[in-house]
Amino acid sequence: MTITSRNTPPRILVFAGSAREDSFNKRLARLMADRIDTLGGHATFIDLRDYPMPIYDGDLEADAGLPEHARRLKRLVMEHQGLAIACPEYNGFITPLLKNTIDWVSRPDGDLGGLAPYANKVAAIAAASPGGLGGLRALPLLRQLLSNIGVTVLPDQLAIGGAGQAFDEDGSLADEGQLGKLDGICQRLVTTLDTLHRT
Ligand SMILES: Cc1cc2nc3c(=O)[nH]c(=O)nc-3n(C[C@H](O)[C@H](O)[C@H](O)COP(=O)(O)O)c2cc1C
Repeated sequence: MTITSRNTPPRILVFAGSAREDSFNKRLARLMADRIDTLGGHATFIDLRDYPMPIYDGDLEADAGLPEHARRLKRLVMEHQGLAIACPEYNGFITPLLKNTIDWVSRPDGDLGGLAPYANKVAAIAAASPGGLGGLRALPLLRQLLSNIGVTVLPDQLAIGGAGQAFDEDGSLADEGQLGKLDGICQRLVTTLDTLHRT
């Protein structure tokens, strides 16, 4: 069901935990952004390749503060009400890229508190992998990490296995059942944010 009457569409920042050019998770994140827009939200897709940062190091932070890309990203997260994240599984865990990004963004920047960007955010999570489990083992860890920093994570999630065959030429999911599940997650994110932010 698409929302037809309400306030400004909820703003949702969408990204993948992979910088790889042909990343399956970037494909999935782009598809989530497309479905969010179609279902009544306003998605902003970003590529973490455009936000390179060093591995977090307390001495770097003490000497020079946050890297410029971390500061930009921190403000970008602040400007959105929701998050949609597609993350690869590396050895059963989330990627260092995603963890490092979330860590830098969780650091204070001047008057802006460390966890301020994450406060009252709602997130949808998904994964894609060439393997059979689709990255399923990393999703509870991503869920836990986001919960630790104050983000409410929707109970629904999707792990796409056999990712090399899962996407069609248009970037959509070939399997209608999987696409329906993804739509359900995106719709729930939009509806939840719309309800929370209704004035
Ligand atoms: C260090 C490393 C560990 C990996 N571990 C897993 C794993 O535990 N489970 C899995 O399904 N795939 C694993 N893979 C394969 C990734 O799912 C695959 O490289 C995938 O394409 C990465 O996501 P991307 O296409 O979005 O970049 C691993 C890949 C790397 C580089």
